[in-house]
Amino acid sequence: MHPRMTTAFALLVFARVSLASAPEPGERVSSPDGRVSITFLLENGAPRYAVAFSGLGIIRPSPLGFVLKDAPPMTSGFEVSELKRETGDETWRPVWGISSKVRNRYNQLTVRLRETNAPARELVLVFRACNDGAAFRYVLPAQSNLSDVAILSEETAFRLAENCTAWWHPVNYDGDEDTYRTTPLDRMPAVNTPVTMKTPGGVHLSIHEAALVDYASMTLAPVDGDMHSFRCELVPWPDGVKVKASTPMKTPWRTIQLADRAAGLLESHLIENLNEPCKIADTSWIEPMKYMGIWWGMHIGKETWAAGSNHGATTENAKQYIDFAASNGIRGVLIEGWNTGWESWFKGASFSFTESYPDFDLPAVAQYAREKNVALIGHHETGGNIPAYEEQMDEAFALYRRLGVRAVKTGYAGEIIPKGQHHHGQWMVNHYQRVTERAAAYHIALDVHEPVKPTGLCRTWPNLMTGEGVRGTEYEAWSDGNPPEHTTIIPFTRGLAGPIDYTPGIFAVTFPKYREGRRVHTTVAKQLALYVVIYSPLQMAADLPENYEGRPEFQFIRDVPVTWDETRALDAAIGDFAAVARRRGNDWFIGAITDESARKLNLPLSFLDPDQTYEATLYTDGKDADWEKNPTPVEITTKTVRAGESLNLSLASSGGAAIRLRPVRAEASPAPGDATGE
Ligand code: NOJ
Ligand code: CA
Repeated sequence: MHPRMTTAFALLVFARVSLASAPEPGERVSSPDGRVSITFLLENGAPRYAVAFSGLGIIRPSPLGFVLKDAPPMTSGFEVSELKRETGDETWRPVWGISSKVRNRYNQLTVRLRETNAPARELVLVFRACNDGAAFRYVLPAQSNLSDVAILSEETAFRLAENCTAWWHPVNYDGDEDTYRTTPLDRMPAVNTPVTMKTPGGVHLSIHEAALVDYASMTLAPVDGDMHSFRCELVPWPDGVKVKASTPMKTPWRTIQLADRAAGLLESHLIENLNEPCKIADTSWIEPMKYMGIWWGMHIGKETWAAGSNHGATTENAKQYIDFAASNGIRGVLIEGWNTGWESWFKGASFSFTESYPDFDLPAVAQYAREKNVALIGHHETGGNIPAYEEQMDEAFALYRRLGVRAVKTGYAGEIIPKGQHHHGQWMVNHYQRVTERAAAYHIALDVHEPVKPTGLCRTWPNLMTGEGVRGTEYEAWSDGNPPEHTTIIPFTRGLAGPIDYTPGIFAVTFPKYREGRRVHTTVAKQLALYVVIYSPLQMAADLPENYEGRPEFQFIRDVPVTWDETRALDAAIGDFAAVARRRGNDWFIGAITDESARKLNLPLSFLDPDQTYEATLYTDGKDADWEKNPTPVEITTKTVRAGESLNLSLASSGGAAIRLRPVRAEASPAPGDATGE
């Protein structure tokens, strides 16, 4: 289905102003519902912005501008040469996602600035206010006094009005695979984004960016001597320059998602809405799916990526995975370690992306998968060796396309070659973008591991389906793992940026046969609930097939969809618990998870169709379940429920509940995709 606009784009130009009417005390743009506002100010020629929510100051007047190499800074000495007001309202249909329709409604203020003295350069600021947050970006127009641009610093700062509680992980130019810390803002060091905060009054906000294209990723660093204030630190090139470009150019959007409750953040579409519409004409080959894979076996030490006596990716093993997937309605199978070069991982990373190990017959496996109606998911681990990958990329995608493989998991586990480049720098941002566009040309979708954080580019390139950029389940196999609170934080931080390939679904939460002392830090019921709480259009059933055999609760994984018509975030407290409901067609699914504290939740079912009776199948923590002492019991019960009722759930320590709700009389409800999802 091609994403199409269902509402015409409205564009109104309100005003052009003369230099004499430069804004004083400020020029404000507010969201359609009036709750979010951004104010532009010029303080003695220096541009500033401020953000408010429901009349409450969230961001105090904060700096804007650039420090450039071999040119005067663009931070002050400006006057306003033009102001433009626009309004937009469109509804678009994503190829996959948390709702089948997305409304993009905003008011926008464009401010054209010109230096009052030579070199009289121009800088344009675009401010956009939406009901779910505020955003702004810089545009450097083509101009004779500014052609090549080397940005040494983007001077954007976020001067928070109050000492919020913040959920963050420390700054890292090469990854986001960390646990989140919870501290007041005055104890927050330099961090990656998204970084999420709660004001003393309970407003929730998350600072991030959208449409990161041909630019460096933004991190935030505390500003010395200015309480609760953070400035943009762009990830550098090896020579210290942050961004190399030429005019005309535009930066990513700087975004502040806003909601009056934690759960509200999960319904935001701000990041995708700030990206351009889909550029892929025919998207029919992009298929959301659940998948299994030759994967967890390597992480727990049962098998190896490299060839040898325990090689995971053998033809025989692949066929067994395909058989299991086919008979359980799991559409995809990922195979890692099929190609030569794994001996060189972390030692120069000279992988071949076309040559199989001798015990893996790629064409035969692909043929077998086709016969069984299973979609193979290919694997390109680059180890960070970008030149080697770019040289082989076209051939590698062409090979997969010939064999019918339509999704590839890529990986960048290792230091980037050439040395000194970072995963999150402009050079790599451009690499990831090239891979996305080349893959699209071969009709291949991507699951990017060790990516640059998502910024909503999946709207433009929906083949960029999911990615890591998170501390995922793999850490449970070979490290201290992910603390019970981890998955109650990531939907509200990293998850606001885009889909997460968290790889849930581990039923054998300990695996002493392969690795003593490591474990998954949840109950099994919580593993099920993650399929609803953490969104991804490619969602893994990560455990070994043998661990699913004979487990009745596997039915929930068989049933749960990976693309949705509607999402309702029911209730949450970041770091404590989260409960999310999502609808596909007539069926609703609910996932509820808790941190290390067992808790009871009362969830009103007011979102259900009031004219309908539903049969609820509940997968809950069984008797005496507890993630540490007794993680496996799952109780499966059914009952009839209606919209006026509520569900009382009892979650074990690091436990969860996964629920499927089906109308008892299906004929009374709309077909998939038809009902509203705005
Ligand atoms: C790290 C990825 O996150 C993981 O999923 C993958 O199995 C390994 N790299 C090997 O590519
Ligand atoms: Ca990883």
